[in-house]
This record gives sequence, structure tokens and C-alpha cells, in this order.
Amino acid sequence: MIWNVEEFTRAAGATVERLAAYVDESQRGLPPVIARRPPRELAEKLGLARWIREGGMTPDDHAAFLAAYLEEGTRLHHPASLGHQVAAPDFPAALADLVHGAANNPMAVYEMGASAATVEHEVVRWMLEKTGYGAAGGGVLTHGGSLANLTALLAARAAVAPDAWTEGVPGDLALLVPASAHYSLTRAAAILGLGERAVVPLETDPLGRIDVARLPDALDRVRRAGRRPMALVASACATGTGLHDDLRGIGEFCAEHGVRFHVDGAHGMSALLSDEHRHRLDGVELADSLIWDAHKMLRTSSLAAAVLTRRGGDLDAAFRQEASYLFYDRDADTHVNPSGVRLPASSGPAPDSTPASGPAPGSAPAPGSGGPPGIDSIGRTVECSKAELGLKVFLNLAWRGERGLGDHVTRQYAAAHRLWELGRERPGFTFPYEPESNIVCFRYGTGDQLEIRERLMAEGAFHLTSAEIGGVRHLRATVMAPATDDKTLEALLDQVSAV
Ligand SMILES: Cc1ncc(COP(=O)(O)O)c(C=O)c1O
Repeated sequence: MIWNVEEFTRAAGATVERLAAYVDESQRGLPPVIARRPPRELAEKLGLARWIREGGMTPDDHAAFLAAYLEEGTRLHHPASLGHQVAAPDFPAALADLVHGAANNPMAVYEMGASAATVEHEVVRWMLEKTGYGAAGGGVLTHGGSLANLTALLAARAAVAPDAWTEGVPGDLALLVPASAHYSLTRAAAILGLGERAVVPLETDPLGRIDVARLPDALDRVRRAGRRPMALVASACATGTGLHDDLRGIGEFCAEHGVRFHVDGAHGMSALLSDEHRHRLDGVELADSLIWDAHKMLRTSSLAAAVLTRRGGDLDAAFRQEASYLFYDRDADTHVNPSGVRLPASSGPAPDSTPASGPAPGSAPAPGSGGPPGIDSIGRTVECSKAELGLKVFLNLAWRGERGLGDHVTRQYAAAHRLWELGRERPGFTFPYEPESNIVCFRYGTGDQLEIRERLMAEGAFHLTSAEIGGVRHLRATVMAPATDDKTLEALLDQVSAV
């Protein structure tokens, strides 16, 4: 059935109106921040079985369904939304999602979406510039930080054990990673065929930060056991605490000892845009690879993550594939330049002859589908087709500018710091560290912290998470919503301590 564009226009109009009201109510803190109706009851309330069986939804039905759907979800724009590291998306990014939903240009190869591919290319190039990798670096956007970490470690495996793709994974590889790192890293070790046994936990201080002084011992132990370090991973910042590893110290150690260095900057890399907090990422340019999630602090919807490498060819070297319908080389007609950009033969393989200004993010030959100039990112991602991820990052940048996004980071980090300042003045609250980001952990009293979290969530008053630090469970607040202010934070402290 072709689109009835009048029906679409009505339904889209009603959707926009409902979403506008939803965000407005949420930002003003009106309804409960979180709803947790049991799934069976919720399926009933939303009429899911009937809609699936019978179809026939009209614009009016859609509006009613959407209202109920939103009411029963989690409100990320709400000031009391202090739970997970998920952005309260800004509306330019939301518009990008709508565009993607309708136009659907999932640019595995350039011909599937020239604008989408070019936008991603420029966004990645901008990210490379911000991280200090510059024109020599390479990168790609991918569906989330976990996949980005997996991709970066795949590149590490290809660099350290280039035959692993064809011959299987050698048994002597080791991944050096602190227990405080995101679980996707140890998971990646298993997915990549190293097995969890290849993970060597690095020693840390009591707050989970890598102890740089003890790195020589760790490396010595690994090498004496006859193992080869595939990569050493640091966090900027750690998921649980929001604290940063010493990237410069670790980077210098890795450079000196020939160890590949990966930085998981899923959450904290956006601080590169903040004058106040950029220093927390000092030394990041020493990393061989890093990841940066836009769906955390750059305010896009989930998911839009970048995996970037210092050497442009690393990602292309990580993958090999054959698919005659996508990968072929009309070599007489097409060159692939070192930036992964296809050029007609007459242009020659000049590295800087990219469709836009300056060199492109990537450097090894990308698989081409022949034809006129283009950008194919398919050779350096796990995905074949992927969403128009660059558009959401680009539209947020285009509307808010680097400055606007940097100010967002500064503001959210300041709010978490404010919670620490206010909380420390109150009896019964303990904060194990001064926050460095918008993630802050604390305890109230000596009782079960999870009971406090449950109570606040059952009341729909606050959405908090929790984390263990040194084996002790803490409450954990992540200040993602721009609507969170001092009043919210005072109310949180009041309600946590109201027994
Ligand atoms: C430091 C860090 N790395 C990786 C991830 C995984 O990101 P994603 O949820 O996008 O897969 C997270 C998510 O919270 C994170 O905090």
C-alpha cells in the first residue's frame, strides 16, 4: 500500500502535538517520572493483542494509543529523572529520527544514502578533530557503545594477531581492564573468541581508578605468563562512579611498553566540548582507539556511538568480507583512496580529494560498489545496513553548535556537583568522592540502599540507580535532564531521608 500522505500528515501532526505536551509536562515535573505497571496489565491497557491481530489504526486511534504509551513509560525530560545514562534527547535529534523513519537511507554503501553517508563522514571527521586524532585518524558511527567497544577491540585483535580472522584466535592474548570498566569490554573479549579467561583485571584505587604505578607489575605478570597484551582499557569516565582514569599516565605507559591503548569514553568524551571539563580527558590523543556515545551527553536518542582510531586504516583492517552484490571493484573505473572514499579513475587516488573539505575518516581501501565518487563505511562496521546515525548528531550540532552542547555538559556536571555540595551538609549522607562528571554516588544511613531506591521509584518520585563501590552498594544519580535544578536536588535529599 502506498502512503496516504494526508493520513500521514494528520498522524504526524497529532504525534508532534502529543510529544510536545509530553515533553512539556515532563520538563515541568508534573506526572510521575517512572511508571512500572506489570507487562501483562500494560499489554492489556494498550490493547496490544487486538492491534496486532486486527490492525486498522486511524490517526485518532494512534493519538490515543500514543498518549497511553507515553504515560506508561519513563520520562527522561523530567527533572527527577536521575537514573540511567540515557539522554533527554534534544528536538533536532528527534527530528532526525523522524526523517530516518520516513526516508530510511541506511547507508551501508554510498548509493543507499549519499546525504546520510556524507553527513556521518563529516560528523566523524569533526569528532576526530575534537579528540586530537585529526586527519590521520579513522572512524565510523555504530549502534551503541557496546558495539563500539567490540569494534575497537576487534581492531586491536587485528593489529596484534592479524591472522585471527582466518586462523582463529591465538590462546595467548590478554585484555588488561579494570573491574570498574563497562561490562561490554569483558563481554567483547568473550565474543571475540578470547574467552573471559583472557581478561586480566588491573589494580585500582578504592574508587576503581586504574593504579598507574602498578601497571608495570601487571604487564610483567602477563608477559611472564607467556601472554601478549591485546589492549589495555581505561574509562573516561567509569559507568558506576563517573570518575576518570589518568589517560595521560596510562597512555604514556602503553606507548613506552608497546601496548595498545583503548579509551572507553562512551559517557565522558563529550566533555571535550566543555571548557571547564576538557582537562579530564587530557592524554586521550595517546589512545590507539576510543569510543564516544552521542546518545549520552550529545543529546541524541539511542543509539549513536562513534568508534575512532588514531590510525585511519585500523578499522578497515579489522574486517574482511565477501558479498558479490555489495563488494566489487570495477577497478578500471574506480579507485579507492586511502580515506575510504571511492573516486573515478580520472581523479586519481588523492587522499584529500574527498567530496567535502579535508581528509576523510578512514584510511584503508573500503570495499566499493563501483561507480562514481562515494563513501562506503560498510567495510569497518559490524552492521551491514545501519540507521542514519550521523544525522541526529549533525542536527544537534547544527542547531545548538559545539558551544551549546559543551554548555550542556558543563551544566549537567555542575548539577551533580551541586548534589554533592548540598548532600554533604545534611546528616546521614555520605559521598565517597567529589563528582567529576554528572554521575554521583552516595549513601544515606547504614541500611539497605536498594530499599530507598525502590521506595522512590514506587512513588514515581525519583528515578535513581545504584552501584557498588568497594563492594558496598550506593545510590547513584546521573543528572541527564536539563530540567533538573537545585529544587529537584533538595527534594531528592528530603525524600531519600524521609523514612
Ligand atoms: C562507559 C560505558 N561504556 C559503554 C557503555 C555501553 O553503551 P551502550 O549502552 O550504548 O551500548 C556504557 C553504557 O552505559 C558506558 O557507560
